[in-house]
Amino acid sequence: MKIHHVGYLVKHFDEAYAVFSDLGFRPDGPVTLDESRNIRIQFMSKDGVVIELVSPVSKDSAVGSLLKKTGASPYHICYESEDFQQDMESLEQKGYLRITEPAPAPAIEGNNVVFLVNPEIGLIEIVDKQKA
Ligand code: NI
Repeated sequence: MKIHHVGYLVKHFDEAYAVFSDLGFRPDGPVTLDESRNIRIQFMSKDGVVIELVSPVSKDSAVGSLLKKTGASPYHICYESEDFQQDMESLEQKGYLRITEPAPAPAIEGNNVVFLVNPEIGLIEIVDKQKA
């Protein structure tokens, strides 16, 4: 699976955006509001590396408690899957724990994504490449 992006959790969207801009990152597409997860998302890239800025827009955001625990930090790598169902099952067989149901990601053209946790490396995300 190819790397799609590195998810970067931030508390203050505008400030974090400005810092990454200053580091040379440029926006890829518009800011997206993911209303099912209550997060704001902006993809940015530099030198072929794509980051996904994720920040909560409400107290019941999907990432609120994690942000409290970790502070601003990279928190997942997302991989592109050519065979979503197969890869998901294969990872689960290897001991990854699926923590979300596959669900469309508005910021990635509605492609299905799923999050899994590996006990040794933590959170990863898989995006279904088929609809990309
Ligand atoms: Ni992501």
